[in-house]
Amino acid sequence: MFSILDFVLVLLVIATVDASVPGGGGFDENYVVTWGNVLKLNQGEVQLSMDKSAGSAFESKHKFGSGFFQMRIKLPPKDTAGVVTAFYLTSKGDTHDEVDFEFLGNRDGKPIQIQTNVFNNGQGNREQKFVLWFDPSTDFHTYGILWNPYQIVFYVDKIPIRIFKNNKKYGVGYPSKPMTVIASLWNGEGWATDGGKAKINWSYAPFKANFQSFSDSGCHADGGNINAEACGSTTYYWNTIQYSRLSANETTAFKNVRAKYMKYDYCSDKRRFPVPPTECRLNQ
Ligand SMILES: *[C@@H]1O[C@H](CO)[C@@H](O)[C@H](O)[C@H]1NC(C)=O
Ligand SMILES: *[C@@H]1O[C@H](CO)[C@@H](O)[C@H](O)[C@H]1NC(C)=O
Repeated sequence: MFSILDFVLVLLVIATVDASVPGGGGFDENYVVTWGNVLKLNQGEVQLSMDKSAGSAFESKHKFGSGFFQMRIKLPPKDTAGVVTAFYLTSKGDTHDEVDFEFLGNRDGKPIQIQTNVFNNGQGNREQKFVLWFDPSTDFHTYGILWNPYQIVFYVDKIPIRIFKNNKKYGVGYPSKPMTVIASLWNGEGWATDGGKAKINWSYAPFKANFQSFSDSGCHADGGNINAEACGSTTYYWNTIQYSRLSANETTAFKNVRAKYMKYDYCSDKRRFPVPPTECRLNQ
């Protein structure tokens, strides 16, 4: 006889299979919740939320020494002034290295800006801001950070929007500490939207951002230092020659997107930097 127990068992099996992600790499395998209210919809999708009491965050279990980190993100809809959604790599602490994607939130109807930054030894001040050519709150899009011995590239879907080359030999700091992958949703109304003038409208709370794609996509560096030889090895695809520079079609897309969608570049902010930082010339 097919009992109700069998039926429940079949449902359980279906549910378990459904939650598994092809190629492995579910949320619990590679990530852990570190702050606030994170709803696990299944092993392939989580939702961060923020209300007046707290924001929320999750981070990778491993630290990394190189990799190609790609997160699929759908931002909170409607009025998100002051609400920052972030996806970044950081080594934490006062002298941290960090590579950031920060969505700065917007008053309803205005385009959302993306801010990118690169820190070395606690020093950032390398902001570049972009608007997007789509509404990032209606669908998932892939935001990628490539980090290898040659360059850091910020990708939006397949399009490179920013490059930060390894110019250590010219004295330019380059992230080289083990970094954790973090995603967070938090109150940045003091600075994020219109330079901090547009505050959060709490009648839209709770704010919710969805995340997908939790595969393990870097070289593990869980000790204190990066094993440069291991994490720079071409056994990892992201260290191979085609990831050492942009391809021809990527270069075309890169130039096009920067000409049309870049809204701020520290390299051309004469007020902050009367003499542009060294890397600005070298990254050309
Ligand atoms: C917040 O949003 C609500 C709903 O759209 C609106 O009625 C209200 O005026 C807004 N508050 C502020 C301070 O803008
Ligand atoms: C460039 O070409 C490669 C190979 O055909 C493709 O995978 C990639 O998506 C292209 N990139 C852009 C930005 O069009």
